[in-house]
Amino acid sequence: MKEIKRYMITSALPYANGPIHIGHLAGVYIPADIYVRYLRMRGRDVVWVCGSDEHGVPITIKARREGVSPQEIVDRYHAIIKESFQQLGISFDIYSRTTSETHRKTASDFFLTLYNKGVFTEATTMQYYDEEAKTFLADRYITGTCPRCHSEGAYGDQCEKCGSTLSPTELIDPKSAITGSTPVMRETTHWYLPLDRYEEFLRHWILDGHKEWKTNVYGQCKSWLDGGLQPRAVSRDLDWGIPVPVEGAEGKVLYVWFDAPIGYISATKELRPDWEKYWKDEGTKLVHFIGKDNIVFHCIVFPTMLHAHGDYILPENVPANEFLNLEGDKISTSRNWAVWLNEYLEDLPGKQDVLRYVLCANAPETKDNDFTWKDFQARNNNELVAVLGNFVNRALVLTAKYYDKAVPAAGELTDYDRETLAELPRIKSAIEEAIENYRFREALREAMNIARLGNKYLADTEPWKTVKTDPEQVKTILNIALQITANLSIAIEPFMPFTAEKITKMLAVERFGWDDLGRTDLIAPGHRLGEAELLFEKIEDSVIEAQLAKLEAAKKANAAAAAASHAEPQKAEISFEEFDRMDIRVGTILSAEKMPKTKKLMRLTVDTGIDRREIVSGIAEYFTPEELVGRQVMVLVNLAPRELKGVLSRGMLLMTEDAEGKLILISPATPVPNGTQVG
Ligand code: 2FM
Ligand code: ZN
Repeated sequence: MKEIKRYMITSALPYANGPIHIGHLAGVYIPADIYVRYLRMRGRDVVWVCGSDEHGVPITIKARREGVSPQEIVDRYHAIIKESFQQLGISFDIYSRTTSETHRKTASDFFLTLYNKGVFTEATTMQYYDEEAKTFLADRYITGTCPRCHSEGAYGDQCEKCGSTLSPTELIDPKSAITGSTPVMRETTHWYLPLDRYEEFLRHWILDGHKEWKTNVYGQCKSWLDGGLQPRAVSRDLDWGIPVPVEGAEGKVLYVWFDAPIGYISATKELRPDWEKYWKDEGTKLVHFIGKDNIVFHCIVFPTMLHAHGDYILPENVPANEFLNLEGDKISTSRNWAVWLNEYLEDLPGKQDVLRYVLCANAPETKDNDFTWKDFQARNNNELVAVLGNFVNRALVLTAKYYDKAVPAAGELTDYDRETLAELPRIKSAIEEAIENYRFREALREAMNIARLGNKYLADTEPWKTVKTDPEQVKTILNIALQITANLSIAIEPFMPFTAEKITKMLAVERFGWDDLGRTDLIAPGHRLGEAELLFEKIEDSVIEAQLAKLEAAKKANAAAAAASHAEPQKAEISFEEFDRMDIRVGTILSAEKMPKTKKLMRLTVDTGIDRREIVSGIAEYFTPEELVGRQVMVLVNLAPRELKGVLSRGMLLMTEDAEGKLILISPATPVPNGTQVG
């Protein structure tokens, strides 16, 4: 095994086209923050970089939709993302952005090195071109009918209805999303990274050399490699991005997935004059924290770029996580089905560590997981308040009560005292083993075991009773409880830095280092403690209900938007006189029966205020007779009678349908006399 001299840690650069949500946090940023905080506590030389990914088509689409420039979009979200990360205690050494000048230069130089080495291949292909907008169309800018499920509004790269991956030429009746015109095919030339030529290198490096990678990561790499790699275009016809730095490439920019990972290098350059040793020296351990949708780029494409360049080291590990769902449903930016970090910080102020705790305890490390607000509440109330907060509070409050905050000296230890304290170094090793192998949930469980140990110790030794029978013994008990508290502040620091700081403040001590974990002499006898305060407070049902209501509102807005997006085009104009010829009345359904041998038809008797008449309506699939009788409805009474299955139907009920196509009867909001006219 090579000696690790330093660590270079990267976490996926989030797209600057929306705020950060809990899925990003649980998948990437919280695990990386834990890892880095732990390394720093161990005194390791570590650099952690991140920044906004500010190029790419989705950003241009959002800008076009809002009628602003792409720069305005990325400026807005870069600021929001950076601020919210900082508030959550995500402790990057630098949070940069890919529109920086350093990055433009770094990415251009990288491209040129590969270009000059003859790494790229060039190919001319036919692509869709919008003649009105005078631009080639990125896949996302072409919409049409899905060739698989025949639903409209599929994109050139994917149908969101049936989930099929598509290519633009497969779309039926393609249209430009910019002008709505029908695009034409035109020749365009691009540069390609010939991944197929690097298959042997990748197979050897990953499949033989990195069997220790997480199964999901290794498995995905293997299936990409077994499927055979194809050359990948590294340029695009687009007016937003880093210009391709060679002659004759006007109107072409670097593909966002070519420039983004180079952003890790640019950010390191911006941070450190000695950046090169973090990227070029074999003594550096490079680790990429990402979500599972980024595996191919970080395990196959970027390493190939680094390898082809020749100056750079390759990642040691890529601990990608699976996805986090929200209340049983996939997190979706476009459907607003997410818990947004900036909103969380506003809605639940001061609860950064609660979110950090819950997202780590429930992180999707080996499979997709679900975040629910009920679980969030339960973990806060039953674990943070009842276990962690309770233990620390008891240790401090009892010391204040019996010894006026002066730490008592321990006397002779019992076997039980010794057994309890012996747990601390064991837990230390367990946390280290778990963190170093990217098992952060397990590491957190172990850290919390220190609080459990402390609670059990106090429950077993009962100092509040012993104080009456053996006051000397209580000095030992509370000394031990305070040593456990100090240990706890160390062990939880990577996970819950705000709480760790509160504990050290309450203990009135300086922050400890990782090596202090396991020691039983961290708090000296006679030392005076600070003020005890509650570390966590119970989260009431109303807080959770408010969050659930927010999600419910998002769901409703989506349903409404979906319904609106399927609205039929407006019919031909009519005059008022034409409208006025319709006689619509409020009536009450007096009887209802399903018509035999039909699926949909219901025979109704309706009191229209004018008369009682029979109407046959196609609503039997959606209503039972009991639901209908007594209901007021709107009836078009002067519709020409029509015979349906032998019954003369005189009139029609007004109806609409919900987003799922279920029929809804239109009724007056409050009862009105039958026969009242509508119009
Ligand atoms: O998937 C994403 O959100 C990308 N913006 C991640 C980029 S990671 C890196 F390569 F920059
Ligand atoms: Zn489809």
